[in-house]
Amino acid sequence: MYQRLLENLTTAVVLLDDALRVRWLNPAAEALLAVSQGRVQGLRLECLEGEGGAVAEVLAKALEEYHPFTQREAVLLLVGGESITVDFTVTPLAEDELLLEIEPRDRLMRISREEALISRQETIKVLSRGLAHEIKNPLGGIRGAAQLLERDLPDPQLAEFTRVIVEEADRLRDLVDRMLGPNHMVRHEPLNIHKVLERVRALLEAEHSRVDYVRDYDPSLPDLNGDESQLIQAVLNVARNAVQAMEESGVARPRLTLRTRARRQFTLGAERHRLVCEVAIIDNGPGIPAALRETLFYPMVSGRAEGSGLGLSIAQSILHQHQGLIECDSQPGCTEFRLLIPLEAN
Ligand SMILES: Nc1ncnc2c1ncn2[C@@H]1O[C@H](COP(=O)(O)OP(=O)(O)OP(=O)(O)O)[C@@H](O)[C@H]1O
Ligand SMILES: [Mg+2]
Repeated sequence: MYQRLLENLTTAVVLLDDALRVRWLNPAAEALLAVSQGRVQGLRLECLEGEGGAVAEVLAKALEEYHPFTQREAVLLLVGGESITVDFTVTPLAEDELLLEIEPRDRLMRISREEALISRQETIKVLSRGLAHEIKNPLGGIRGAAQLLERDLPDPQLAEFTRVIVEEADRLRDLVDRMLGPNHMVRHEPLNIHKVLERVRALLEAEHSRVDYVRDYDPSLPDLNGDESQLIQAVLNVARNAVQAMEESGVARPRLTLRTRARRQFTLGAERHRLVCEVAIIDNGPGIPAALRETLFYPMVSGRAEGSGLGLSIAQSILHQHQGLIECDSQPGCTEFRLLIPLEAN
């Protein structure tokens, strides 16, 4: 029963010997540290040294003084260069045995941020759908009336004006349609995410050939169920923004990286998923303007003169229909959008 308990804990648990070599770790620890039990058993883990060896020092001290310690906001450097912030407690169990419990701070911060994001998104969706609907109804009437009027105009030259009415009504209808988002149900068919990415890359390469497109794919990712054309749309909206931002700011060596990874035991909103597909779209452009950060995914929020500000809100709603979401980290020189799609949910 203890084994079962440990294996299902969401807290990462690691058992170390007196030389800080791994005796055992639970699946939560494997997921957090991105290592596997089989490969690290008996080894001293670099990622448990902490930044500048700070964590290893605390561990050694706990063993030496035979006293438990808790430390907050320690930084662990993972294999692959990623760093995570964690709280950890170390308890000596015997002269030569240490119990280490690790609680990721990043993830807690991320979950609360995501919950806020999801609930805000819901509010916006309801609001904009209501508004869009109210705009569309009278539009049909206006357009029809202008056409009737055109037929009975005494001077054919006046038709220029009724045509403006019809054209502008059409333009408004298109805008509202885009605001309403995809109107057909998402299809759920097995699809290969790399095919989606390759398609987007080909499209962008044709539009912006100066950009260096880097592919960093995890070929072991299984197929996911979803709507291929909508996912292409979502990825394209995000990637096109990146390319446009790099182009406009005149970055010397514009580079767009498309990266895929499988994330195990990953929490999206309030739900924990066994396996999540992560698509990261990374650019070395100027970063998201500070004024837009909080409202980035809202419809009609744009930093570009000719932008309609719908790209990201549409992408986000497509991801929602796949039970996923988009998150974003941005600073000058590095902007990363991550599209997260659960693999087992659909
Ligand atoms: N990778 C990025 N780097 C810098 N700024 C970005 C990036 N992605 C998005 N933005 C900013 O976010 C804004 C909103 O993007 P969004 O795609 O929603 O609308 P848009 O691109 O302005 O218009 P649309 O996509 O509807 O034509 C952009 O105008 C841009 O200012
Ligand atoms: Mg856009």
